[in-house]
Amino acid sequence: MPSVYLNGTFLPQEEACVPVTDRGFLFGDGVYEVIPAYGGRLFRWPHHLQRLQNSLDGIRLPNPLGSSEWENMLNELLLRNRDESSATNDQAVYLQVTRGSAARRDHCFPETTVPTIYATSNPIPVPDPAIAEHGVAVVTLEDIRWQRCDIKAITLLANVLLRQQAAEQGAAEAILVRDGKVIEGSSSNIFVIDDDTLLTPPKSAQMLPGITRDLVLELAERHGVRHRETDITPDILAQAGEIWITSSTREIVPVTRLDSRNVGKGRPGPMWKAMSAHYRDYKAAVRAGEAD
Ligand code: PDD
Repeated sequence: MPSVYLNGTFLPQEEACVPVTDRGFLFGDGVYEVIPAYGGRLFRWPHHLQRLQNSLDGIRLPNPLGSSEWENMLNELLLRNRDESSATNDQAVYLQVTRGSAARRDHCFPETTVPTIYATSNPIPVPDPAIAEHGVAVVTLEDIRWQRCDIKAITLLANVLLRQQAAEQGAAEAILVRDGKVIEGSSSNIFVIDDDTLLTPPKSAQMLPGITRDLVLELAERHGVRHRETDITPDILAQAGEIWITSSTREIVPVTRLDSRNVGKGRPGPMWKAMSAHYRDYKAAVRAGEAD
């Protein structure tokens, strides 16, 4: 059982409890972050902290901790949960902040709010080698989520239903389409290779601005990969030579089946291989303390 942090205290996960009056429990009134840590070092920490701030601003909840308080607390958690038997010490941090508890259930914000702060970390499983070999299948589904998908809200019911629908069709992800545009996955961003150019949808309120997405764009720029942020139609998706999905936990995943049809040659493509090597090198630099 990992140690967790709850409202100022580190304790074993099985002892951590929040009241049933917590607005996270009653309304899904809160936000969260998922942050990888490689070799005990938080990955892209300033970016995650900024996105957390944007999410908190989006739900009008003051940030309960300063940036060094967040950083110190998360580093302490990583130390407590370090697996001595692991050669890599790679962990994924989950943190969430809710609007806290109020005596009476009322949709309006309570007058005084003491946010609930929760964080935990778990080992990152070794990636399944079958994914690099064969890729994964995805299905396209209509995006049934709300209009503020840029807020990393804990209210994830639509994402859960979409992901479950995909899983029941044997797919690893649901690719969401809204108003004739491909937006993102249920818990990932999307890239396609169209005519040797890497394309991804531009940021908007309809999608989560992924930290992995931004890093892939940075790596594309650094390594001379032609890239463009542009709307992607389902037709462009269907004709793409390669499709990738990205997230902090899954990194860059090659998609080889789209709605039961092969993507390109039905195998992970050369541009994915090159980009995942750049990503691996970047992670190694973070482990060595030469990047963040
Ligand atoms: N999800 N889009 C959505 C809807 C997501 O939930 C996520 C991440 C992403 C990718 O963002 P990032 O690269 O910053 O991880 C895009 C996390 C991993 C989760 O909910 O567990």
